[in-house]
Amino acid sequence: MEKEIEKINNLDTLCQKISEEVSKIENNLDDLTADVPPEVAALMSENDKLEYRIRILKRHAEELTENVALEGSILNFLQDIFTSSIKKSFPELKTFTCSVTRSTSEKFGDYQCNSAMNIAQVLRQQGAKVSPMDCAQKIVANVSCDLAIESLEIAKPGFINVKVKTSFLSKRISHLLNEGVKPPPIKKRKIVVDFSSPNVAKEMHVGHLRSTIIGESICRLLEFAGNDVLRLNHIGDWGTQFGMLIAHLQEKFPDYLNNVPPIKNLQEFYKESKLRFDTDEEFKKKAYSCVVQLQKYEPDMMKAWKQICDITAKEIEKIYKVLDITLIARGESFYQERMKTLVKELEERGVLIEDEGRKILFVPGINVPMTIVKSDGGFTYDTSDLAAIRQRVEEEKADWLIYVVDAGQSLHLESVFAAARELGFCPPEVKTDHAAFGVVLGEDKKKFKTRSGDTVKLADLLEEGLQKSLLKLKEKKRDEVLSPEELKAAQEAVAYGCIKYADLSHNRSHDYVFSFDRMLDDRGNSAAYLLYSLVRIRSIARNVNVSESALKEAAKSTEIILEHPKELKLAKIISRFQEVIINVIEDLSLHTLCDYLYELSVVFSEFYDNCYIIEKDPTGQIKNINMSRLLLCDATASMMTTGFHILGLKPLEKM
Ligand code: ARG
Repeated sequence: MEKEIEKINNLDTLCQKISEEVSKIENNLDDLTADVPPEVAALMSENDKLEYRIRILKRHAEELTENVALEGSILNFLQDIFTSSIKKSFPELKTFTCSVTRSTSEKFGDYQCNSAMNIAQVLRQQGAKVSPMDCAQKIVANVSCDLAIESLEIAKPGFINVKVKTSFLSKRISHLLNEGVKPPPIKKRKIVVDFSSPNVAKEMHVGHLRSTIIGESICRLLEFAGNDVLRLNHIGDWGTQFGMLIAHLQEKFPDYLNNVPPIKNLQEFYKESKLRFDTDEEFKKKAYSCVVQLQKYEPDMMKAWKQICDITAKEIEKIYKVLDITLIARGESFYQERMKTLVKELEERGVLIEDEGRKILFVPGINVPMTIVKSDGGFTYDTSDLAAIRQRVEEEKADWLIYVVDAGQSLHLESVFAAARELGFCPPEVKTDHAAFGVVLGEDKKKFKTRSGDTVKLADLLEEGLQKSLLKLKEKKRDEVLSPEELKAAQEAVAYGCIKYADLSHNRSHDYVFSFDRMLDDRGNSAAYLLYSLVRIRSIARNVNVSESALKEAAKSTEIILEHPKELKLAKIISRFQEVIINVIEDLSLHTLCDYLYELSVVFSEFYDNCYIIEKDPTGQIKNINMSRLLLCDATASMMTTGFHILGLKPLEKM
């Protein structure tokens, strides 16, 4: 946005210059007497055209600024305004950062600029005699923004408190109603998000569920903000364990080339083959030879490998389908050729060190070396991730890489990032982030397990969620008012919504306790509460028979009145959405968005309890509908719907 404003400023200066030139020419023309030679006449008409262009450009510039103000983050908008004012007030400052934050207390205003103290300090270091108060006064004198700023007040030692104009908030709500919820204007990037990423033949556990839920929401958020997002499922589908799986498959289902092996439980199958591998030397040899052949893409081996992968793919597909997750499967196997090339190059560059048959790589700043080639010649998790990061930068042209992986793998990813930087595969302008998350705990605060101590199967967990959400709905007698289809929709939305929301509403870096009872509680900050709030807001317009198209029409001509304190409070929180989105994108912390939506629905309830939307006569007939308030409901609903989409919650018609 700063760039936009600078462009507009440049445009302004240009317009001014042209204007000055035009008046000069005009003056000259005035001096000329009656007979105008044809060259001059031509110049005059050229002038007229130029003037016309100037007017259009000026209007365009104004519209652009206004749009940025009406649909962007207010905080960023103010930051730009204060930045220009500081530039103007203190041209002697070479660099400075302008700090604008939300007010710590409503008493002081809505926002505050905190830069005066800093500037005074810098200037004093340069020998000037100024106080923070002086600096603040200077900054205030150079701020001009009739559109958004109601008042600026200086408070000791040099804070500048900003009150936002009510008319500005009202315009923003109207803009939102007419144009829809807009993402804040930010730099668009090509982003790879690596998430979910279970392993073939191993249990997809609740940790993968966290990665799946958080990753999906991160993608939705970044897509909403206009980025080009590549969603990658980095499935563990390659490596030496496939040798024993294939060898076992060949023995158990010799006819596998013609008939798909009827493996019901791949985890059991894995355990069986592992047991044989550990106890039977012959089998072990065979397994190794299978790996060698697989890595040469021998067709029969590839077929067996694919059959095994397909079983896992089918299982996880089911989970993705119910949870509405979109992913491109691009497992470790995808990088086999790239790993070979990578290793060859690293050997040529002489960076690999021989260590008891292994080839290792030391990375600056990290104690533990990476293993690039194992003593049996195979590649490792390090190798595939190094090849993958390179592919993502060089081939996908990504400028931001996000890995949604449990915090336990921090050292691994840190090494991968550092190695990629050191080797030149990941230039400094490419951002890398490990969106790490904590462990899922059971209600006993111990590792999440079933009663019998087994790891919890994801499919079972989702099923249990469905059962519990149905019970809850029945407890509230919703089955008596909803049709069977509506009840089913509510059951699914609540079950999956609660599982997702419980995860997303916690700070992802903390461990988190998985508890159905807590997540299905519709009183606090939960999906059930939010889903229910939206249903209620939506029904307000329905109950007074105002259709969606009528609301749309009304939005064009109805001024949004913010006279009641609760109306104003609601408008303020609605207008904060873009700020929240920018924050969440910055630190990929979706709980901030959850908190925001919860606060929004609480503030909405206050508004609803205090501000009548309809007026009835003594017989109960509707006498009057307060359209401005009904539109505030609509704006709240749009904001919540957008938030729900990002969090993967399915809004319901009825509940
Ligand atoms: N398959 C790994 C696991 O289950 C997660 C992969 C994460 N992504 C990555 N590029 N390393 O732990």
